[in-house]
Amino acid sequence: MRSLRSGLSPASLLTGAATLVTLGALLVAAPAAQAADTPLRDLAAAKGKAIGTAVTGSKLTGTYGDIAGAQFNWLTPGNAMKWETVEPSRGTYNWAEADQIVAFAQAHNQQVRGHTLVWHSQNPGWLANGTWTPAELSTLLQDHISTEVTRYKGRLAAWDVVNEPFNEDGTYRSTLWYNGLGADYIAQALTWARAADPSAKLYINDYNVEGVNAKSTALYNLVKSLKERGVPIDGVGLQAHLILGQVPATFQQNIQRFADLGVDVAITELDIRMQLPSTEAKLTQQAADYKAVLDACVAVARCTGVTVWGFTDSDSWIPDVFTGYGAATPYDENYVPKPAYYAIATALGGTTTPPTGACSATYSVASQWNTGFTGQVRIACSGAALSAWRVSWSFGAGQQITQAWNATCAQTGAAVSCVNASYNGTVPNGGSVTFGFNAAWSGSNPVPVVTVG
Ligand code: XIL
Repeated sequence: MRSLRSGLSPASLLTGAATLVTLGALLVAAPAAQAADTPLRDLAAAKGKAIGTAVTGSKLTGTYGDIAGAQFNWLTPGNAMKWETVEPSRGTYNWAEADQIVAFAQAHNQQVRGHTLVWHSQNPGWLANGTWTPAELSTLLQDHISTEVTRYKGRLAAWDVVNEPFNEDGTYRSTLWYNGLGADYIAQALTWARAADPSAKLYINDYNVEGVNAKSTALYNLVKSLKERGVPIDGVGLQAHLILGQVPATFQQNIQRFADLGVDVAITELDIRMQLPSTEAKLTQQAADYKAVLDACVAVARCTGVTVWGFTDSDSWIPDVFTGYGAATPYDENYVPKPAYYAIATALGGTTTPPTGACSATYSVASQWNTGFTGQVRIACSGAALSAWRVSWSFGAGQQITQAWNATCAQTGAAVSCVNASYNGTVPNGGSVTFGFNAAWSGSNPVPVVTVG
């Protein structure tokens, strides 16, 4: 590359790929463990647990369908069974997506968790904006529950009958149902659901009830009193929409206290969100968090299993609702398993380790002039994939980075370290990502050895 200095102006060296002059290489190898030697559903089944995912019916083809079918033994319709979906205008029903998901589950030998019958959210406008007497409201609710539960009678293993009935302080949430019917709407809904399908397990489901706190204690007290009254209640759903690094310390203890009450516990909507961009460190923390949740469930016999709220970051509600947050699921947007995926496998007794070392970085000087040069680094994977990356090298002759694009680079002395930008952390198996930089040089400009990871 030094030879290119003589007689070439900076402009002529910046004319593009044709001037690519140097290929340095390096880093590689180590046998790549393939993603999921044993599917999660087989690992879970061996432990007698459910491993589920929320799904979107229209996506159940191609890679999304392959993974949903191969890795999970339970499905929850993410939106397909909500009131606004199934009865958008009064008396007009649309079961298409719900039917599709139930059929997919049957074809893949999966159980289905119905979600959800009584909620304050995602109700159709005609219902939410109507004016109803208590008697009318009661009839509407009974009809809705009877119609929907009967439609899927014998085909759903469980129903989230009542969703999110509590405020954070443990008081009842003010909703259409509570305001119109009083707290007993919960007992009535459960009773109507049992009458429509005696074989489905009936749950109350809520969020921020994973640890021992005022809200989970209110749920505990409700379940206790329902059981004392003989109201049909089989389990509680702990949604578990968690934040990175914040798995409650009392998670297992809380699961245990419900189990001791004589009900099942399901983790129904697990996701663990992080502030974007994701980094290796955050993904590592997320894996530990996923493992902690799975461990807590595995440790308690009455914890039936864990459902993730979307298995891929491309089908997660988080970015739409929590600004600046995302990357909350076990697979990235390109269906590459993240460290969280391997953490779930490990917690379920799997021995698969994440693929490492099958990605390499190639450093090249794209153009060079008397005081500076433009470099590029290409990260390519074969037999493995990355969902975030860091590459490092040591400059051997005093070169100094001045600017980088498609990566964030830092240099301390000779040591350079570059991490992915928010949008290019994924290097698929068989794919590559390239970033560039400008740097100063004098004297000589030797090619460094670049390492990934
Ligand atoms: C979410 C869905 O994932 C989104 O697609 C939809 O726009 C809003 O609802 N708690 C629940 C779920 O019980 O039904 C919610 O699902 C997420 C929070």
